[in-house]
Amino acid sequence: MTTTPTRRLLPLVSTGPHGSRSHKTCQYRCGNACDQPVPNSSGNPEFRDIAAQALARRSVLKAGAGIGALSLAGVAAPAAASSVTVGSLAEAAVAAKVAHGAGTWEFTPVAPNTDDQVIVPEGFKANVVIAWGDPVVKDAPTFDVNNQTPGAAEKQFGYNADYVGVLPHPDKEDRALLVTNHEYTDEPLMFPTGAYDDITIKQVAMASHGMSVVEIKRGRTLGSWKRVKPRDTTLNRRIHTGTKFELDGPAAGHDRLKTKADSTGTVVYGTLNNCAGGLTPWGTVLSGEENFNQYFDTSAPLDTRYLDSYKRYGITGTGTRGWKDVASRFDLAREPHEPFRFGWIVEIDPYDPRSTPRKHTMLGRFKHEGANCTLADNGQVVVYMGDDERGDYIYKFVSAGTFDASGTEQARQKNLELLTAGTLFVGKFTGDGAGDGVHDGSGAWIPLTSDTTSYVEGMSVADVLIDTRLAADKVGPTRMDRPEDVEVNPVNGKVYAALTNNSDRGRKWPADEANPVTSSLVRSEPGGPLVAATGNRNGYVLEISPTGGDHLAETFSWDLMLVCGDPADPVTYFAGYPKQLVSPISCPDNLAFDAVGNLWISTDGAVLGSHDGLFRVPVEGPNRGKVQQFLTVPVGAETCGPFITEDQNSVFIAPQHPGETDDATFEAPSSTWPHTDSFPRPGVVVVYKKK
Ligand code: FEO
Ligand code: CA
Ligand code: CA
Repeated sequence: MTTTPTRRLLPLVSTGPHGSRSHKTCQYRCGNACDQPVPNSSGNPEFRDIAAQALARRSVLKAGAGIGALSLAGVAAPAAASSVTVGSLAEAAVAAKVAHGAGTWEFTPVAPNTDDQVIVPEGFKANVVIAWGDPVVKDAPTFDVNNQTPGAAEKQFGYNADYVGVLPHPDKEDRALLVTNHEYTDEPLMFPTGAYDDITIKQVAMASHGMSVVEIKRGRTLGSWKRVKPRDTTLNRRIHTGTKFELDGPAAGHDRLKTKADSTGTVVYGTLNNCAGGLTPWGTVLSGEENFNQYFDTSAPLDTRYLDSYKRYGITGTGTRGWKDVASRFDLAREPHEPFRFGWIVEIDPYDPRSTPRKHTMLGRFKHEGANCTLADNGQVVVYMGDDERGDYIYKFVSAGTFDASGTEQARQKNLELLTAGTLFVGKFTGDGAGDGVHDGSGAWIPLTSDTTSYVEGMSVADVLIDTRLAADKVGPTRMDRPEDVEVNPVNGKVYAALTNNSDRGRKWPADEANPVTSSLVRSEPGGPLVAATGNRNGYVLEISPTGGDHLAETFSWDLMLVCGDPADPVTYFAGYPKQLVSPISCPDNLAFDAVGNLWISTDGAVLGSHDGLFRVPVEGPNRGKVQQFLTVPVGAETCGPFITEDQNSVFIAPQHPGETDDATFEAPSSTWPHTDSFPRPGVVVVYKKK
């Protein structure tokens, strides 16, 4: 697919690099990453065995963590996932939920709109499960926006949930554990103007980051859920910047991970800017530390030893959060190693509120969007990960050890070590020529390091893991258009990656078959005119087929299953499905799968005049590519989550940063969603079918 002459005749508008996201979202969420020089200047080319394993997991969880009753929802398929289809092995186990569940729900797609609501199709209902400020742990004070303290914030639901996971309850069929991240804060929307001093604002903002574990229970209507009162559960937990984490894996204890407060290089307090995540087959949650660079500024010139590394990660010493005023470790001049202790994949055990969460150095350090697991046929764990920056890479990790499904406590302990040793790879994507009319080709996973041997010249194992971006630059991977979620479809075994957008494609880097779009059609309001904008503004969904269906294979084939945008845009492609029958879609971000294997795509920063939303699209059969919009989110928000429960009756989302539009303030908000107060309260929503 190439840019057509017709499109070149359209006026080129400069919408700026930020898509429809407000300047505030760009500032608070990612520290204005799009305004910084692109960190990658390497010159590299651009660009459930459901049934069978559910029983195994159930027994693992039951024996290992006192967990029974439900199989683990949403964990990617182990064993011969690629050979399991709804029509074969898994049929008996999934038929019931497929028959009534999210994969086969019939709905009239939601039309593009700008309502300050979560808009769902006729016949469905959306309820808020929990929102910013709601109590999480037992002694959490009642939320009072005029009396916020860091101590209270560390006990209440944090700001801006992104990842949403729902895990089975240890022993109650009608309950579950909701696990979320709190990615970042937006102070002008959180604090009444002039009501707080600067230090308190910074302390409360810091305390509003992290993660939450919240016990939930089923509501009266099938598929509905509500939160359990903190006094009625022992499982709730708030993880925040005062929570102790342990660094593990080959780089743990390295000199560059040591600080004045931690001479061992193994103990870090807190996790920051946690974006997406995923579940493991052993019942834990992985979470990606993404735009961590923005939390660091400096009171003196930067340590010259680390300038190359800092630069590659966007650590400039000009972070706007100002946290150095409340914690000296965020001052690069005083603690030059602290930023090396962020940018990791963290793992938390939601079944043990007293457990120490861990940061896995083996999975590399970059702006981790998230991490999603599958199991190879022999039980080795394979984790797919995206580095969300313009021109950065897609990664794969393969564990050295194998998953133990025996269900004993010993097995669980062994499984908890699986992400500490193995091999880290980076992806290279090669086009096969445009003759077949499809953006597709072949690819390879290039090894960067194992836990014992570095494959990058001049860099040790620890060097590769701490400076993963610099290591990858040396081996010729493909520069991608902001890799977000990368997730395995548990039904067909293929890997799907959301490549959200890249305003610089075609300007700083040429197009090629894998990176085809350099000019996009966008609109500023529903029904408004489409106008051309430079770069890839609407994004892609990339489909990766491991050679032989084997996730251990170091080669694969790939295709761009979706080239997103308005169907009227000639560059769009919906896997060959008739364009007049699909919903417009822009800026894919997070992914999920239902039991049928349909892909669910949430969007962030859509530039087609509508609010962001959630879409369902089949990836197999005659309806492959039929994108249908399932919901839209409120003013200023992106659609985070999504998560489809194992019983297929509930779709969870997190409308993140409602009201985050330019010039909005606490007193003059552009959104008051969920309309419980005069200001917005980002939270988690469950969508289900009405009775
Ligand atoms: Fe936090 Fe890549 O989105
Ligand atoms: Ca081709
Ligand atoms: Ca994201």
